Amino acid sequence: MDRIHITGGTPLNGVIPISGAKNAALPLMIASLLTGETLELVNVPRLADIASLSRILGNHGVDHMVVGKRPGQTTETGQTVRLTASNVIDTTAPYDLVSTMRASFWVVAPLLARFGEAKVSLPGGCAIGTRPVDLLIMALEKLGAQIEIDGGYVVAKTKNGLRGGEISFPKVTVGGTHVALMGAALAYGTTVIENAAREPEVVDLAECLIKMGARIEGAGTPRIVVEGVSRLHGARHEVLPDRIETGTYAMAVAMTGGDVTLEDTRADLLHSALDVLATTGTEVTSTDKGIRIRRNGAGIAAVDVTTDPFPGFPTDLQAQFMALMTLAKGRSHIRETIFENRFMHVQELARLGAKIRLEGDLAVVEGVERLKGAPVMATDLRASVSLVIAGLAAEGETQINRVYHLDRGFEALEAKLGRCGAEIRRVRT
Ligand code: UD1
Repeated sequence: MDRIHITGGTPLNGVIPISGAKNAALPLMIASLLTGETLELVNVPRLADIASLSRILGNHGVDHMVVGKRPGQTTETGQTVRLTASNVIDTTAPYDLVSTMRASFWVVAPLLARFGEAKVSLPGGCAIGTRPVDLLIMALEKLGAQIEIDGGYVVAKTKNGLRGGEISFPKVTVGGTHVALMGAALAYGTTVIENAAREPEVVDLAECLIKMGARIEGAGTPRIVVEGVSRLHGARHEVLPDRIETGTYAMAVAMTGGDVTLEDTRADLLHSALDVLATTGTEVTSTDKGIRIRRNGAGIAAVDVTTDPFPGFPTDLQAQFMALMTLAKGRSHIRETIFENRFMHVQELARLGAKIRLEGDLAVVEGVERLKGAPVMATDLRASVSLVIAGLAAEGETQINRVYHLDRGFEALEAKLGRCGAEIRRVRT
């Protein structure tokens, strides 16, 4: 298994291009199942999760074509992918494929909406809490689906197609909102989604569905109204920038010090995180190229943070922010409200010398003067990258084991950081 070795202590200086958002590309690729025509997606990141989903879609019969290199592109710039679901031969998504990634469960919605049936294994993914799919199933039932759980599979059917309905989520769910949107797009009649997720990735999916002929209003607000249409057509859509990758590198610069411009990204995708970062004493400036992050020798101020659905502070940046707070002057309180088991990075950060106490959903971080490199273990996607950030700021060498988690969500991580002066390398074993 690959390892990443980091020799910490060097400030980051330079430019980091931000990739297309993994969490937008996944539902967009799944939306290709809604039409027999070609969906062309631009700026799709090269990630293990994208490859896994391509395999799942391929198993349904979706043709998948990666457009060749064009002038100005490198092996690190996002790829253009053409997906054509004109010949779906299988509406089952088997356990061995779905168990590696939770988002693949979302294929249930377009399969059901277009073909009237789907059999999808209950999902796997990061081990960050129980992460049930009860609300996704509830949404499909509100659209008239009959659903049974049989042998670890969700078996969904509809006799005469899905019908519009009222879906009121008791809790904000990104996946639930994606599923509701895809189901409602091809349902007969009007669907109202209340307490919808407002994440930029939901808006991106809605915009792509609109290009495909869907009638959707209110994406980005808590109330989305969908007028179902009988068929959707092909479209071309560019995946929005990855706000989690943006925030991760911003926190890395805040932690090591330096001056980095994050290119091809937008501050409005992560205002809450950038506001918090500014409060820690980091300079954050929006430029026409992207976002410039600067911190000179001044210390890092301790700031309290609570994770929340968008536009709140993202749970997917909680581990990275905690890494930053381990070097803050004073005590910071970090509360995780979205997932109940998302503190697995705490014991690994402690191996580097961090002082963190857990009290239920609250982490109390006492800033220390310095971290010291050590061997650590990546546990989930975002936790892994928090160890990378901490390693960049720690004295001496940090070895990160089980890096396949990083490859699921961070495109060209070592190359992007290496070009900004980080001493980071992958050791293939
Ligand atoms: C998505 C993101 C993930 C992010 C999360 C929250 C993708 C591929 N993944 O995950 O990176 O951390 O949003 O921003 O986009 N819940 C239920 N029942 C359900 C569904 C969810 O109780 O049926 C709960 C979950 O356990 C969690 C909360 O709702 O506590 C939010 O989960 P949700 O927004 O659905 O997360 P995902 O869409 O899986």
